Amino acid sequence: MEKILVLDFGGQYNQLIARRVRDHRVYAEILPYTTPIDVIKENNYKGIIFTGGPNSVFDMSSPHYTKEILDIGVPILGICYGCQLIAWMGDGEVKTAPVSEYGKIEFEHKGSAIFKNVPEKSVVWMSHTDYIATPPQGFEIVGTTADCPCAAMQNVSKGIYAVQFHPEVTHSQFGSQMLYNFIYEVCGCKGDWVMDNFIENTVERLREQIGDKKVILGLSGGVDSSVAAGLLSRAVGNQLTCVFVDQGLMRKDEGDFVEKTFTSLFDMNFVRVNCADAFLEKLEGVTDPEDKRKIIGTEFYNVFWNEIRKQGELGYFAQGTIYPDCIESGKGDADVIKTHHNRVGMPDDIEFLGVIEPLCDLFKDEVRRVGEMLGIPKQLVWRQPFPGPGLGVRIIGEITADKIKVLQEADWVLRDEMAKNGYEKNLAQFFCVLPCVKTVGVMGDHRTYDHLVAIRAVTTDDFMTADWARIPYDILAKVSNRITNEVEHVNRVVYDITSKPPGTVEWL
Ligand code: XMP
Repeated sequence: MEKILVLDFGGQYNQLIARRVRDHRVYAEILPYTTPIDVIKENNYKGIIFTGGPNSVFDMSSPHYTKEILDIGVPILGICYGCQLIAWMGDGEVKTAPVSEYGKIEFEHKGSAIFKNVPEKSVVWMSHTDYIATPPQGFEIVGTTADCPCAAMQNVSKGIYAVQFHPEVTHSQFGSQMLYNFIYEVCGCKGDWVMDNFIENTVERLREQIGDKKVILGLSGGVDSSVAAGLLSRAVGNQLTCVFVDQGLMRKDEGDFVEKTFTSLFDMNFVRVNCADAFLEKLEGVTDPEDKRKIIGTEFYNVFWNEIRKQGELGYFAQGTIYPDCIESGKGDADVIKTHHNRVGMPDDIEFLGVIEPLCDLFKDEVRRVGEMLGIPKQLVWRQPFPGPGLGVRIIGEITADKIKVLQEADWVLRDEMAKNGYEKNLAQFFCVLPCVKTVGVMGDHRTYDHLVAIRAVTTDDFMTADWARIPYDILAKVSNRITNEVEHVNRVVYDITSKPPGTVEWL
């Protein structure tokens, strides 16, 4: 398989670079700048992309790399900090500008393999303070902006190209074309990263690895574990057992939908553990949000591992870990691999032959594509994020069966209405919250004193920041009307107009 290396110098768009390369049908992987050069040489990469980063090349504590990499005969594209680093490594002159260049800037190029089919003038996205005053020996300037005398440079004989801007962000008008040019014109890739191949190769690999042993997967009903289940089922059929712990905190009818999907569409053993009552008992009288999270998490794994203990001979343990969960960041201490809630710790008395993570090379959008190709229903493949503790973090105060029912019904109306008017595609996440506040209302001739439901809907790319969604008033009016009419014990609906920060997406 052709591979492009994204060498991570700590920039915020690094995953985006890899995703853009993969969108052009070439596999890209991200490694930290601390990766030894021998490892890079062994991997036979078709090309290397140096990412951006927040540092200055003058600061010796900032990420650097051995100059030798410029001479190993693999094409390189430097982006922003990566561009300055190439200049600095090659004894060019990098200076600090009095004013940072930030935002959409007009860029002009003078022709280059990486600018094939790119108009002479176009808009690019800049975000830098340091700039290249003089390119290193052997390099020629091939692009400028009003404030940047060397916005792009190349050394054709060495196959090294560098741009001061960010071609990976959509604000760079022809950025995608430039990355395409680097991959195909400079690195000579053919484009073999397609999802059909991925499914075929992974299924073959899983069959080889698993042989006639059993595999157990914890299925949550989320996108990742569902797609992992679909892949494993295709590979080894009923050697796969999926354990689905239903703690009663999912959305209305969701548990039944997960069970129906996997028992009717896929060959596997499906074990559903219904433990809503046990969870409610543990949560009785608990009001502190962190205590609730802890109890739900601990209890979930108690139930899950107990079920595993009942399974007899164990075989392999599979998880729906995806690529962003596994990437080592170039930002900090490179020995620390990000841990993620998907990667679970195992009790000492449970011994598997090994852990299988069939999706560990895929980004979320690729996981969804694989899911669709495996025939997993859209409802699961395009499911919006749902917190592990489920509705437990959407009920303020003590959780009771009655409150769960009110919230499930209100949330169902919201989702139904959004699906009917097609507005859901505009939202990253939307749901109802039960603040457990009662207010006075009037219904018919009667005074009511009942629950208030809050609607939360956000737009965001990464959930680190989020904006409250500007849902049209007539849609909100319809939702409010339906919730107060159709859901018992709700007489008022409010809309949360708080962004993140200062709020968070969830209320708890
Ligand atoms: P916040 O509330 O932190 O949410 O702005 C950001 C995203 O994370 C989800 N979320 C969780 N996911 N366990 C999870 O698996 C949790 O405890 C949890 N809390 C928040 C939230 O739904 C949103 O998508």
